[in-house]
Amino acid sequence: MWYYRGLTLVVLVGGEKGGTGKSTIATNLAAELALAGPNCTGVVPYRCSTVLVWYYRGLTLVVLVGGEKGGTGKSTIATNLAAYLACRDIDVVLLDADSQATAARWVERRNSFSPGLPRVHCVQKTGDIFETIRDLSGRYQQVVVDAGGRDSEELRSAMVAADRLYIPLKASQPDLETVINVSRLVKTACGLNPVLRACAVVSMASTHPAVTETHEARELLAELPEIGLSQAVIGERKIFRDAIVEGRGVIECKNSKAKAEIGLLAEEIYGG
Ligand SMILES: Nc1ncnc2c1ncn2[C@@H]1O[C@H](COP(=O)(O)OP(=O)(O)OP(=O)(O)O)[C@@H](O)[C@H]1O
Ligand SMILES: [Mg+2]
Repeated sequence: MWYYRGLTLVVLVGGEKGGTGKSTIATNLAAELALAGPNCTGVVPYRCSTVLVWYYRGLTLVVLVGGEKGGTGKSTIATNLAAYLACRDIDVVLLDADSQATAARWVERRNSFSPGLPRVHCVQKTGDIFETIRDLSGRYQQVVVDAGGRDSEELRSAMVAADRLYIPLKASQPDLETVINVSRLVKTACGLNPVLRACAVVSMASTHPAVTETHEARELLAELPEIGLSQAVIGERKIFRDAIVEGRGVIECKNSKAKAEIGLLAEEIYGG
């Protein structure tokens, strides 16, 4: 995957002659990288005076799942993205910034009922979470934030630190209307954080083939240039409710349709 292997640069400073300044060059290189960002891991003595320096490029993506409407599937999507990444050996942290602690309890259940599953780390923090996100993005390969369902300090501070905002919503008028205010928040946040990209994702969509729920959403979102619409649509499926109770992602369950839906969303965010 593009955001993990292959982009770490290992720099070996070596040679057969002593006293030529290898350690000096390596330590200075490391100091330069440390100034450049939090993703440099360090300097390790190796054999005689050869020193390895490695640098983790800043490719961590901070994905914020939030919005202004309750019960739209935010925690479900955040936990499923975290499980999807963990299943791909990605060192992922789920930041639960909602005092309801749905995501944190999901991690607790995951650890106690299914300790063999790939690990998802969890941090809980409310209030201003800007610094926490910055810190976590230097420590983990991927960060997923569950920011809850209202216009809050958590949501606003996270928008300034995040790379992507995903706003799950049911494709119904009351849900869609809440995106109008979120688009104002996005506009303000982009002034401070120009990398932020916001995208609505239709969640809990009818699985009945005759119902095309995305049509209304597409029409309304066309008027909001700050918010895109995900190609992925998450269906209303019992497996999503069962998985959250078991501390699993649907990727770790047997329902191939739910797996495909989360897979499509994850590929859109993280690449194939
Ligand atoms: N795609 C889905 N299919 C079926 N049930 C779902 C789906 N997504 C979420 N649910 C269920 O809907 C309820 C609300 O979901 P969830 O807790 O993820 O919403 P939320 O947006 O995080 O809510 P809140 O705003 O309270 O934080 C839960 O019972 C969850 O299991
Ligand atoms: Mg929630």
